[in-house]
Amino acid sequence: MSFATLWESLLPIGRDGLSGGYRRFSWTPEDAACRAWFTQAAAERDLRVLTDRNGNLWAWWDPPGGPDARPPAGAAGDSGAPSPRAGAGAVVTGSHLDSVPDGGAFDGPLGVVSAFAAVDMLRERGCLPARPLAIAAFSEEEGARFGVACLGSRLLAGAIDPGAARALADAAGVTLAEAMAAAGHDPDGIGPDDGLLAAVGAYVELHIEQGRALADLDAAIAVGEQIWPHGRWRLDFTGRPDHAGTAILADRRDPMLPFAGAVLAARQAAASHGARATVGKVTAEPGAVNAVSARVSAWLDARAPDEPTLQAVVGEVLAAAQEAAAGHGVELAAEPESVTPAVMFDQGLRDGLASSLAGRGIQAPVLPTGAGHDAGVLAARVPTAMLFVRNPTGVSHSPAEHAEPADCAAGVRALAAVLEDLVGR
Ligand code: GLV
Ligand code: MN
Ligand code: MN
Repeated sequence: MSFATLWESLLPIGRDGLSGGYRRFSWTPEDAACRAWFTQAAAERDLRVLTDRNGNLWAWWDPPGGPDARPPAGAAGDSGAPSPRAGAGAVVTGSHLDSVPDGGAFDGPLGVVSAFAAVDMLRERGCLPARPLAIAAFSEEEGARFGVACLGSRLLAGAIDPGAARALADAAGVTLAEAMAAAGHDPDGIGPDDGLLAAVGAYVELHIEQGRALADLDAAIAVGEQIWPHGRWRLDFTGRPDHAGTAILADRRDPMLPFAGAVLAARQAAASHGARATVGKVTAEPGAVNAVSARVSAWLDARAPDEPTLQAVVGEVLAAAQEAAAGHGVELAAEPESVTPAVMFDQGLRDGLASSLAGRGIQAPVLPTGAGHDAGVLAARVPTAMLFVRNPTGVSHSPAEHAEPADCAAGVRALAAVLEDLVGR
């Protein structure tokens, strides 16, 4: 099956008719439809598809003879991985299928669809894997529903406490545990899965570039170098609700004002440190046009080339927010929701990717990124690397996100080359 056929079969799922963007949030009907799509794509290729304890999907292409001594299907904790001893060298590729609110079609799905297309390409070439190869789709990568980015890979890698994860709540107050259970997944089983990780020798994630460096360099494919340290902080400004027409200005404790100060401080701090800081989500309660708000909650997303710079940016924003809050008689509570340290991808694996591509005449610059990925979280436990595919405008997390079909095809060829060298015989 061609990349285009597979791609088009996924496109309608979770697409909003008005915005044209995607709303694929974890453990919703749209997420279930994405999971069904993955299962079908795997079944069409005779791949063993299984869901791990944390709700991540895996489609296994076993070497001839099958996986050695794998646990019985359906057993608790069974993620379909070969036993750690037998499968220590499994190669995993993939990405995620969830989206930010009104996200683009490519962020995540490009890596999953390209993975299936690369398996097709390898099979057409008669390649047989000498090591197990899996395609993974990690759950809740964007943190769009429960607030913590890369939640599925974080749970798998033991980077978040399972109890704290179960208690995470969405905007409607539904907890992760409740949402998982409602979708038929046992939330009591979530948490680190050392057996599965021990079976993984390498994870290579293909992803659309979320900037326009490749367009500027006139290249279709890049090898990832590192991920900037980044994180999310929740800021709750609590004031006093009052009447917009009658409350005199001097009496007001309006949380909207220090919130505005924090937004401007974020821009200022990012500019002065060569970093990024964004407030992309805000809620005002009770949300009346003709009332001073009781509470404004805002989420700061900050990213920087190194950790001291990130700390400086966040420190400046929080200090400015605190000062503005005090100046308006408003209480401020600030706390991190998810923070990811700097990640340098595995040098040996990166070199391997570069030589696989160079060996096929594929020019691939090496690029850092300010975007977060499951490959960044998994890097703490297994060697990981990334391939980026050109995005002509660089726009991402938006319906305007795009990659040209020729560049998607180049991505599949690049991924197939890398996988062939990693698993082939
Ligand atoms: C994920 O795409 C992120 O960088 O937030
Ligand atoms: Mn994203
Ligand atoms: Mn992504």
